[in-house]
Amino acid sequence: MRVIAIIGQKGGTGKTTTALGLAVSAERAGFRTAVLDLDPQTNAANWKDRREAEEPAVESIQPGRLRQTLKSAEGAGAEIVFIDTPGKSDTAAVEAARVADLVLIPVRPQIFDLETLSAVRDAVRLAGSPPTYVVLNGIHPSATRSPAEQREMIGNAFGLPVSPVHLSHRAAFAEAPASGQSPQEVEPHGKAAAELEALFAFVDKTATAKARPEAVPILQEARR
Ligand SMILES: Nc1ncnc2c1ncn2[C@@H]1O[C@H](COP(=O)(O)OP(=O)(O)OP(=O)(O)O)[C@@H](O)[C@H]1O
Ligand SMILES: [Mg+2]
Repeated sequence: MRVIAIIGQKGGTGKTTTALGLAVSAERAGFRTAVLDLDPQTNAANWKDRREAEEPAVESIQPGRLRQTLKSAEGAGAEIVFIDTPGKSDTAAVEAARVADLVLIPVRPQIFDLETLSAVRDAVRLAGSPPTYVVLNGIHPSATRSPAEQREMIGNAFGLPVSPVHLSHRAAFAEAPASGQSPQEVEPHGKAAAELEALFAFVDKTATAKARPEAVPILQEARR
């Protein structure tokens, strides 16, 4: 089972949008998928209440229940889990990063978001430095700086790798959650859908499940 944590140190950067969009992509790619919502705002869990489709599973939990819930998810056959976190909780961000095989940090390419990145980098270090990528979100399709220039500038300034795939500012991202959907479901051939599919392909390729400590003795037995 692979665990992807979506974290940040600021509200409204696109964490929930990214978590739900990727979860729907994972589901459509054939993976049994769950979303764990650590945010007391419960945006992801509320999205699931509005949703007609059964999948992905979404559970709202306290950070203290994260490890137990991941174990149950694995026991129930989940193959990929996305953890959505609140904007301003170090504890939830560090807890989520600690159990993650891959951490994503959505940011809008604006100084008020970018200046929080050094604090997020510290939280990731505290969590044992799992593989981490900044994901640029809400790039204006007619921005003067190209996404590639923005990626390079942010990577150089904050010492964090930046995902080669970004999400643009598009109406479908803001409108689809109102009906418990994701852009791929509302406009399957739209540009937002294509961006999410490309981001999921990057995540799928990059997130390699850590050997869980409890799995090690079993592996050793098998080799004997
Ligand atoms: N790429 C995008 N294009 C258009 N609107 C977007 C995009 N990404 C996010 N939004 C909108 O911006 C708002 C904030 O996004 P979202 O709720 O995903 O952020 P968040 O980081 O989860 O916020 P919080 O910290 O409050 O949990 C929402 O209204 C969402 O629909
Ligand atoms: Mg959110």
